Amino acid sequence: MPDFAPEPQAVHSPNTRHAIFLVATINPGPDAAATVRAWCEDVATLTRTVSTRSPSENLSCICAFGSQAWDRLFGQPRPAALHPFRVFGDGARTAVATPGDILLHIRAESMDMCFELATLLMNGLGDAVTVVDETHGFRYFDRRAIIGFVDGTENPAGREAVHFTMIGDEDAEFTGGSYVLVQKYLHDMAGWNALSVESQEGIIGRHKLSNVELDDDIKPASSHSALTTLEENGEEVKILRDNMPFGRAGMGEFGTYFIGYARNPAPIEQMLENMFVGRPAGNYDRLLDYSRAVTGSLFFVPSEDMLEALAQRTGGVEPAMDQRVEPVAEAKPVQPSPDVAAS
Ligand code: HEM
Repeated sequence: MPDFAPEPQAVHSPNTRHAIFLVATINPGPDAAATVRAWCEDVATLTRTVSTRSPSENLSCICAFGSQAWDRLFGQPRPAALHPFRVFGDGARTAVATPGDILLHIRAESMDMCFELATLLMNGLGDAVTVVDETHGFRYFDRRAIIGFVDGTENPAGREAVHFTMIGDEDAEFTGGSYVLVQKYLHDMAGWNALSVESQEGIIGRHKLSNVELDDDIKPASSHSALTTLEENGEEVKILRDNMPFGRAGMGEFGTYFIGYARNPAPIEQMLENMFVGRPAGNYDRLLDYSRAVTGSLFFVPSEDMLEALAQRTGGVEPAMDQRVEPVAEAKPVQPSPDVAAS
């Protein structure tokens, strides 16, 4: 067999019309850990099994592990930059940390394909895990977030996407892997829709209908676009997002499932700090006056080859019960800040 570079999981898969985001914790005990480890070998096979039935549906699945789960299941070596989710902000504007050992990001053009694969994968995990969140996302018109703005325009593509998301020589044992951060946001749609389109455009930093970026001389420094643009040594540092709207109209629930991939968590965390604390502090993202994060977890995405090989790993350590991470209290509902509401 030739010595190929590790095959990444489907991080660069095309954006699809549907997605299932599933976050689970692993139940206590060595049997549960052993079940999850053995299951790692089946993820790619099951994905192929379903996708072969309808290749045009672009079915893909990414499987990722949280910091604590990694130590428990696989031990050393561990991905250099994997750590528990870092909390940013405080009070009503907090990027909360919530439990999560395993993330499944399943994408396809139709929900039946996503659902079928999710069912088979969950059957394999059985009572070894507890699902703490399952969100079904859908494409909304011309790739708009539920707040009405086109989402994903500034994503890197092609080689640039690979460059910004794939671990390379900096952590040689984990080449072809990535980090992924997820957060579930709920929006105050009544408050958001009460704003003028011009105010909304100032908050996002783009025109709503045309999606054209605001000129630099009128784009506020607090705009979402300004605060999530990062530069290092004069070069822009990007992340790869595939956010999806979700909701339940009858329950008044309107949300954005944020998902960002990168070769190191640091740029995503810097963006969170800019949004929640501000750049400089106080110059925060006004989108957060109408949106609150209700979940937050960080995961490592092994390469596809490594995921399969993890089934054979030994060396994981069962944590004592009192070492399990407790969820951080949820942020309180947000109130629009007077300056935004008035503009
Ligand atoms: C409330 C949830 C969020 C919504 C509704 C949202 C929506 C949007 C929209 C509409 C854009 C403009 C178009 C584009 O995608 O380039 C955008 C840009 C962007 N967002 Fe978000 N976003 C959310 C959360 C986040 C978070 C949590 C991060 C990072 C931690 C983030 C990072 C970015 C980045 C990097 C850009 C591109 C900025 C640029 O280069 O102009 N977003 N987002």
